Amino acid sequence: MEQYVIKGGTPLKGSVNICGAKNAALALIPAALLTEEPVVISNLPDVSDINILLDAIAAIGARVERINRHKVRIVGATVSQLSVDYGYVDKIRASYYLLGSLLGRFGEAEVAMPGGCVIGARPIDQHIKGFEALGAKVLLENGQIKTTATQGRLKGNHIYFDVVSVGATINIILAAVMAEGNTIIENPAKEPHVVDLANMLNSMGASIRGAGTDVIRIKGVDRLHKTEYTVIPDQIEAGTFMFAAAVTGGDVTVKKVIPKHLESITSKLVDIGCEVMEYDDSVRVVARGPLRATQVKTLPYPGFPTDMQPQMTAALTLAQGLSTVTESIFENRFKYTGELNRMGAKIKVEGSSTAIITGVKGLQGAHVSAPDLRAGAALVLAGLAADGYTEVDDIKYINRGYENFHGKLQGLGASIVKVESEEEIERFKKMA
Ligand code: EPZ
Repeated sequence: MEQYVIKGGTPLKGSVNICGAKNAALALIPAALLTEEPVVISNLPDVSDINILLDAIAAIGARVERINRHKVRIVGATVSQLSVDYGYVDKIRASYYLLGSLLGRFGEAEVAMPGGCVIGARPIDQHIKGFEALGAKVLLENGQIKTTATQGRLKGNHIYFDVVSVGATINIILAAVMAEGNTIIENPAKEPHVVDLANMLNSMGASIRGAGTDVIRIKGVDRLHKTEYTVIPDQIEAGTFMFAAAVTGGDVTVKKVIPKHLESITSKLVDIGCEVMEYDDSVRVVARGPLRATQVKTLPYPGFPTDMQPQMTAALTLAQGLSTVTESIFENRFKYTGELNRMGAKIKVEGSSTAIITGVKGLQGAHVSAPDLRAGAALVLAGLAADGYTEVDDIKYINRGYENFHGKLQGLGASIVKVESEEEIERFKKMA
C-alpha cells in the first residue's frame, strides 16, 4: 500500500504551478456530452477522480482521445448507453452529473444513487427537485435513479434551491441548457467552477447568464456545438500550497492561479499573521514568526471553502492562542482531528460543527491515516511542520484530487517521499 513518509521541519520555499480545477473539470466532462461534435478540454488535472470519470463516459460509448496528459478530446456522437454503472458512482460521486447531461440531451438517464461519505450524508433532494421542476419523472429503484423527460424534452421552469448546492446547481444547468424555454435558478451555488461550466457551455452555443450571482438565467437552445476550452486553476490546490507555506514558516509563490478566487483564503492567512502578495496570476505567501489564532466558519463561495477547512485547522494547531473553526457545510468533517491530536495537537470538537484549537509549540511526527482527500492533505501539511517522521497511509484519497502532490512539495524543498514498502521507509529515514 502506498504511503507518504515525511521528515518535517523544513520551511517550504520557491514556486509551484497549480493544475486545472478538479471540481470544474468534473462538470465540464459531462457537459461535453451535450453535443455530438468534438469538445477539446485543456488543463485537466491528472488525478484519479478525473480519470475515472473519463472511463465512465467511455463506458457509455463516448470517444475519449488523450491528446496529452492534460488535454482530452471528447466526442459525444457515439454515446449509446444512457445508464451509468454503479462501479463508477461508487468510486466517484460526481458521476451523477451524467444524470443532468444525459437527461438534457436524450430525455432519459439512469445512474446509481450516490451514498453518503465520510464527510456527511450528502442527500440529493435538490437535484431531484430541480429535475422534476424541468418536467422529468424521477424514480429511485434498487439503488438506481431513473429520470425521464415526460414530454420527450425538458421544459424550462423557475427553480428555487432550499440549500445552496454546488452539485445541484451544476446538474440543473446541465439539464436545462437544452430544455424548451427559459429556466431561472434562484439561490444557486456561486463557486468558480459553476461559472466555468457556464462559460464552457456558452462557448458551445448555450445562453446562460448570471452564473456566479444569486440568479442564473438560462434560455434553452436546440443544439450545442463543438468547442475548445481550458479549465480554470484549482482554487483548493492553490489554497493547500498557501497553507503549506504558512504551517512550515515558508515563502511560497503559487503560480497559474486566479487571485480573485483565493480571496477568502488569503484573508485568513493575513489574519493568522502571514504576508500575502497578489500578482496577475500568482500569489506569494510569506510566513514570518509564529502564527496567530483566529476564528473561521466555512461557507459557500465567496466564503471560506469547506474544502480548505482541514488544511486551515492543521495550521491553527500551531497558532498562538485559542482558535475556533466552524464547519457549516458538512456535518462530519472533523474526523481527522483525532489524527492531528495524535501528533500533539490540542483540538476539541464540540457537537459536530465546531473545533476548538489550543495552539501548541510544536507537533510530533506520527503514523496517521488519511480519512478523505482534503483531510489527507491536511495531515501531510502537519507532517511537514512536525518534528521527526510522519507516515501518512491511504494516500489514494489524496491522489483523487492532487496531481503529483509529493513531487510538487519536493520542488519546494520538502523532505517527502511516496513509498510502498518498509525497506523504502528505512532507506528514506537513513538518507533524510
Ligand atoms: C461539491 O460537493 C464539491 N464536489 C465538494 O468537494 C465540496 O466540498 C462541496 O461542493 C462544497 O463546496 C464537487 O464539486 C465534485 P453541495 P457537492 O451539494 O456538490 C447539502 C472535494 O474535496 N445538500 O454543495 O456534493 C449537502 O449535504 C469535494 O473536492 C442537500 O442538502 O456539495 C451539504 O451539506 C468534497 N441536498 C451542502 O448541501 C442536496 O440535494 C452542500 O453540498 C444537495 C446538497
